[in-house]
Amino acid sequence: MPGASEKSWTLLDGLRVDRALRIVWQAAPRWTAASIVLVVIQAIVPLVTLYVLKLIVDQLTNAGADAGSGGTFDSLLLPIGAAFATTLIGNLCNALIGHANIIQAHLVADHMQRVVQAKSIDVDLAYYENSQYYNKLHRAQREAPSRPVRIVQGVTQLARNSLTLLGAFALLLMFHWGVVVAVFAASIPVLFYRLKQAQAVYVLHRDKTVSERLSAYFNRVITTAEDAKEVRVFGFGPLMVERFAELRNRIRTALRRISAQGSRRQFVTETTTALAGYASLAFIVHAALNASITLGELVMYFGAFQVAMGALRPTLSGLAEVYENNLFLSALYEFLEVPRTVTEPVRPRQMPRPWRSGLEVENLRFRYPGTERLVLQGIDMAIRPGEIVALVGRNGSGKTTLTKLLCRLYDPSTGRISIDGIDLREFRSADLRREIGVIYQDFGRYHVTARENIRLGRPELAPDDPAIAKAARWAGIHDDLMQFPKGYDTVLSRTLADGEELSVGQWQKLALARALLRDSQLILLDEPTSSLDPAAEFEFFEKFRSMVRDRSALVISHRFSTVRMADRIYVLADGRVVEQGSHDSLVELGGLYAGLYHKQASYYGTENPAAGIDEAAFANVSRTE
Ligand SMILES: Nc1ncnc2c1ncn2[C@@H]1O[C@H](COP(=O)(O)OP(=O)(O)OP(=O)(O)O)[C@@H](O)[C@H]1O
Ligand SMILES: [Mg+2]
Repeated sequence: MPGASEKSWTLLDGLRVDRALRIVWQAAPRWTAASIVLVVIQAIVPLVTLYVLKLIVDQLTNAGADAGSGGTFDSLLLPIGAAFATTLIGNLCNALIGHANIIQAHLVADHMQRVVQAKSIDVDLAYYENSQYYNKLHRAQREAPSRPVRIVQGVTQLARNSLTLLGAFALLLMFHWGVVVAVFAASIPVLFYRLKQAQAVYVLHRDKTVSERLSAYFNRVITTAEDAKEVRVFGFGPLMVERFAELRNRIRTALRRISAQGSRRQFVTETTTALAGYASLAFIVHAALNASITLGELVMYFGAFQVAMGALRPTLSGLAEVYENNLFLSALYEFLEVPRTVTEPVRPRQMPRPWRSGLEVENLRFRYPGTERLVLQGIDMAIRPGEIVALVGRNGSGKTTLTKLLCRLYDPSTGRISIDGIDLREFRSADLRREIGVIYQDFGRYHVTARENIRLGRPELAPDDPAIAKAARWAGIHDDLMQFPKGYDTVLSRTLADGEELSVGQWQKLALARALLRDSQLILLDEPTSSLDPAAEFEFFEKFRSMVRDRSALVISHRFSTVRMADRIYVLADGRVVEQGSHDSLVELGGLYAGLYHKQASYYGTENPAAGIDEAAFANVSRTE
């Protein structure tokens, strides 16, 4: 099942940077190569400068001893010029690396977004109903764009600082090995505490994922158009604001604790390093006083000491940062490793076209992943080509669940669904889904043009394909769209410039058009007419039979005006088919269906629930059996 327990990360995992390096290299190879070259030059520059400085000072002291000899200044011009040139190169590198880093960061961020999006499209629907999955997705989305590049930039900076540090150590080694050992030894506790702090920060962030997600949700309710009506009318805005603040408070408190701990650790460890450093410095000065080194050497060692101390800090914090970023990136790896349970067949079967015997459901049982209750408890049903089948049942009886299984958004717990005798699991899921045009109860309302909203049903069509308008006519939305100044090219969201808003029923017709556009052998309509007015519903079903032709249709509805035109009706109760037959035979049977039908009929005050619609007209729509 999705979401195994959270993996704990060891120190070594945290220092494994190869995956991050690969990611960055893939996303921006040239810019990464450029940064590496620049960083190496940057690392060498201070050491060259130091050496040139030594030359100058030694020449000056020689000149002092040799007073009066001409040409001293001239001979100093060359090393001074060299020092200047070195600084110039260093400056150029600094400027270029800033630019390279910005471009590299953008390339990598966009690349990572694509990776996370590709995975988000691919995972099972079940993961979207699983809180641990959502936590993973949230963390991956938050961390993926920035962390890989931070790791690589961290590693290059680390390389630069370590190179500088090594050079400085080499110079100091010429003076005395004890200095190097002292500085090195003092840095071990610093590193240890830095890594521990990085771990604490990571654990904190991982644990606050839920609070963060929840606070982001409340923020969305407060700030987006979808809920703006209810927020105002019910006046629960302040309540949401308060909940949001509470969560942020909790997150802040935890952050403060970790941050204070970090400051304490930092102070203690930096003092340790400083102690070792100043002891070494005293050692160098002592040697100079005893005149065992030249003034030039003193300048160089002193400089080397400063460079070493200057590079040590960023080296250690760089290591800790790489470690921390890598821990955060583990969120991305965890997400990318989420397996699919609705798997693709190794040897996929060819999808029959046209279907001969059609769709068959046999003894289908199903429980939602991660839950105990059997929602479907042994369903048997068939949908033959050219047949319109209806599914009725009370709320929660499992109708929508069944449609999701037909699209293979989940696999059955036991039993099977087949097309022409071939189990759905033997088809590629894309091949199967190509054969299904579907409108779900909670269909999508996309903030793109009306034309695009329909075309999404068959993305491979050209935007101006005449099939789009044909589907719109079938769904009864064509005339409404033509009323807009921009017709089909009207953007359907008032939150966008020149956007228009549709009524709920118009949206439903648009979703219908999307489903009908698909060149599929099964049309799956889950409550397709719940928001349509009786006239629109009547018109739609009048055309429906000719639209279906030799295809199959499964229609779910609580409206008997919709249901009664079906060739066969299945009545679902508690995940079982309890009755089946034509409308007339089921009414005659006097069971659950008849009970529901009569209730609705008496509610409308007529035997025909589609009040106001001519009963005879309905008879024309229903196929005579
Ligand atoms: N994603 C899910 N995870 C777990 N349980 C679910 C999920 N979706 C639905 N259920 C449960 O499955 C049962 C059947 O739900 P389903 O949506 O199939 O009912 P329905 O017949 O379509 O109802 P309605 O007429 O209200 O649309 C319900 O009891 C519901 O609680
Ligand atoms: Mg439903």
